[in-house]
Amino acid sequence: MSRVVTETMVRVEDVHKSYGTGAAAVHALRGVSFEVPRGELVALKGRSGSGKTTLLNIVGGLDTPDHGRVHVDGSDLAGLDEAGLLALRRDHVGFVFQSFGLIPILTAAENVGVPLRLRRADPREREERVALLLSLVGLADHAAQRPGELSGGQQQRVAIARALANSPSLLIADEPTGQLDAETGHAVMELLRAVVRSERVTALVATHDATLLDLADRVLELGDGEITEH
Ligand SMILES: Nc1ncnc2c1ncn2[C@@H]1O[C@H](COP(=O)(O)OP(=O)(O)OP(=O)(O)O)[C@@H](O)[C@H]1O
Ligand SMILES: [Mg+2]
Repeated sequence: MSRVVTETMVRVEDVHKSYGTGAAAVHALRGVSFEVPRGELVALKGRSGSGKTTLLNIVGGLDTPDHGRVHVDGSDLAGLDEAGLLALRRDHVGFVFQSFGLIPILTAAENVGVPLRLRRADPREREERVALLLSLVGLADHAAQRPGELSGGQQQRVAIARALANSPSLLIADEPTGQLDAETGHAVMELLRAVVRSERVTALVATHDATLLDLADRVLELGDGEITEH
């Protein structure tokens, strides 16, 4: 993939996305434009149905816009075919979802190592990276536990470590604390804030969590498919 180093990690220009057709059409995004500078943590808020997940999926190459342009780390996503989008998701973007998405039969360490296996990283390099990431998220002593043996907050910390495994340039998180109690959510958001600094990653996080809205470098608000505040 050809890319130029840019100070803008994400550039979204006039993105539109509808689901369905005719009278039943839902206009999830109606001309959204914004930029996320490299190294920043940007929070995305907005009520349920305002288009947050739709927008994150488009920025992460999981979905395509009907109209408009998206650049991630210097790449125009419209110029990528399926293989190119797959490579973008595998090598440049880390995803964290509300439901954690860990593989139940794998230990915490094995879950974190999955992206490195997919990339066929050297096993020694993989083990070192996994150990480093587990200690980064405060779970060095829980490496051998399976998701069912971890608390919700611990599972989400494993998911954050996994998202960072391939040193992505962009971390996308969709309501990462949505299933956690307030106190645990607070700790997970502080961890996200810390890893954005220590791993020099850029993050775009959909959330209603007041902690993260305070810790973010910038807050964007979506309302009915449009940016209403930034
Ligand atoms: N696959 C789909 N098919 C049809 N409509 C969809 C689809 N995905 C999303 N929508 C609609 O698009 C709009 C935006 O949905 P989206 O999931 O992006 O909102 P959201 O801001 O993430 O909401 P929440 O806070 O509840 O997660 C909603 O009206 C939703 O019903
Ligand atoms: Mg959503």
